[in-house]
Amino acid sequence: MKLREMRRRMLVAAVLPVLLVVSFVVGAFSFSRVGELGEAHAQRAKLLLRQVSMASEFGLFSGNRASLQSAASAVKLEADVKSVRVYDVDAQLLVSAGAFTPLDAAQLRQTEFGVVVRKADRDVVAEPIYAVNIQLDDMFADRREPKVSTPKLLGYAVLEVSRSALAARERNVLLVSLAVGVIGVFLGGFFAARLGERVVQPILNVSRRIERIGQGDFSGRANVRAHDPLQELQDGLNQMAMRLTWGRDELEQRIVSATQELRQKKEEAELATQAKSKFLAAASHDLRQPTHALGMFIARLRQIELPADASQLVGRLEASVQAMQDFLDGLLDLSRLDAGVVQVQMRPLSVSELFTSVRTSLGQVAVDKGLYLRIRPCSVWVHSDPVLLQRMVMNLVHNALRYTERGTVLLCGRLVEQGRSLRIDVLDSGIGIAQTDHTRVFQEFVQLGNADREHSNGQGLGLNIVERTAALLGIGIALRSSLGCGTRFSLTVPLVVAPDVVSSSAGLPALVSLAGVKVLVVEDDILSLEAMRDLLDSWGCEVLAAASSAQATELLLRGHRVDLVVSDYRLGDDVDGLRLIAGLRALAGREIPACLMSGDTDAALMEKAKDAGLTLLHKPVRPAKLRSLMRHLLPVSQSAH
Ligand SMILES: Nc1ncnc2c1ncn2[C@@H]1O[C@H](COP(=O)(O)OP(=O)(O)OP(=O)(O)O)[C@@H](O)[C@H]1O
Ligand SMILES: [Mg+2]
Repeated sequence: MKLREMRRRMLVAAVLPVLLVVSFVVGAFSFSRVGELGEAHAQRAKLLLRQVSMASEFGLFSGNRASLQSAASAVKLEADVKSVRVYDVDAQLLVSAGAFTPLDAAQLRQTEFGVVVRKADRDVVAEPIYAVNIQLDDMFADRREPKVSTPKLLGYAVLEVSRSALAARERNVLLVSLAVGVIGVFLGGFFAARLGERVVQPILNVSRRIERIGQGDFSGRANVRAHDPLQELQDGLNQMAMRLTWGRDELEQRIVSATQELRQKKEEAELATQAKSKFLAAASHDLRQPTHALGMFIARLRQIELPADASQLVGRLEASVQAMQDFLDGLLDLSRLDAGVVQVQMRPLSVSELFTSVRTSLGQVAVDKGLYLRIRPCSVWVHSDPVLLQRMVMNLVHNALRYTERGTVLLCGRLVEQGRSLRIDVLDSGIGIAQTDHTRVFQEFVQLGNADREHSNGQGLGLNIVERTAALLGIGIALRSSLGCGTRFSLTVPLVVAPDVVSSSAGLPALVSLAGVKVLVVEDDILSLEAMRDLLDSWGCEVLAAASSAQATELLLRGHRVDLVVSDYRLGDDVDGLRLIAGLRALAGREIPACLMSGDTDAALMEKAKDAGLTLLHKPVRPAKLRSLMRHLLPVSQSAH
């Protein structure tokens, strides 16, 4: 209830009884007073009439009109008497004084005194006049039988008395009563209201305090007076507010200390993470360097004719390095996704071409494992990033082949969402994934059947990269599988209308031969430098090897003409690969085609290379990738060499 409403109701409750009592008392007083005035008026009329009757008795008896007239005129002198009349026994008017209202005989012949006519301003009263029966003392009369005689009717006396004096008095009485009533109500109401206010005010105070406490303000304390009817409640409220204040202060204190503790723990955790990241980055860099050299040496070894058993050993060596490279590539993908530097280039892409490239890359893996890789033709186009989508599908098909021992792996597309999207399904008849692991398999480093972390079985990074790339491209990913019943991974990609192109490979630059191309390789790691020199040699390139930026500059100063520069980023001195390439270009006075290599995976370097317009190859660089990049960088005319 609102405070104003409460106050109003209290006022009504206090004033209403006063009003009723005063009205009743004033009403009763007025009623009785008006009654008394009426009675007094009637008595006076009766007395005056009696006076006329008694004064007229002799005149009537003796037939003396003069005596009758003087009796009537004497009574007429009274201020409130308007007229006096005397009638004989037959209702014939004998005398009158003052103007009068005519009366008929029937009205007169009433036996006793009474009002004959009542008008607004006057009363007409009449009374019969009897002869007085006077008993004379007669000593000789028989005392045993007293004589009884009836009084003799002599006539009628009629009087008209004015009511205006009575009406004025009645009016005065009413006015006085009204004034007394109003004053009574006013005073009563005033005192009742003040009394009510004494009760309401403390309630209002209490309710205001409760409202403030409800709004979280515990500061105010009620000033409790000795005779306050709500003293106990006010005391209770004060105590409650005090306890709430303590409680809040204590809670705030606890929150502050908990926040401090949390912040400290967070800082500790951040420091630990930073230390871990630093260690990982350093370890990964140090690992990339020799793996890079190893990859180059093995690639070179592959080109040499070796006895069968040595060739088999090289093959195994290659597989091990391949696994290591896969792991390092996975880590690189993750750090790129973490750093948000993955470049997305959305464009229409042919699903048919995508499927063909999957067959080309993984067809042999299926054959080697004795599995049937079935790829259903699909002629639609989708809107996505070709490189990233291909990597995702490859990853899923690779998993399907890895976790299927016999049977089929199927890659197909079907239209969904009323033909607005294509769902690319990768189905296998393999070991399946239990329902409880459906979320877990997408976490990094989670592998279900590789407790020993045998590295030839992967690292548990593939699905995590697929899921994060899907989120980046806005692709829906779904998994349906149960243990022993095969698996289906689905990617839902938006469809587009096939663009008007003859073939997506049209317009690609013609393949450039690397024979005779003068390549300047700058690398401070001697093993890597040797490996690169050997490999490039085997491709027919003329290699200029430099172990530092100074050596590289010197080679150019000596007048060597260079077609391509392949430089490491960290060169062990002040000048890094980026600055070296810029310096060499300035020295040569032309944009020598160049690329960077690095064992660093940090995002800032990727950004720098991108800004300088240079392709950055992360170590370990796969020979095939290096070769195709070199071909891409060289102008077509280079084939003339
Ligand atoms: N098609 C599948 N059938 C059965 N299990 C699968 C399938 N695909 C993935 N899994 C399970 O999910 C785990 C995680 O897969 P993920 O691709 O992330 O890692 P991985 O294949 O083990 O290693 P990586 O992909 O890094 O080479 C796998 O180890 C495997 O247990
Ligand atoms: Mg995998």
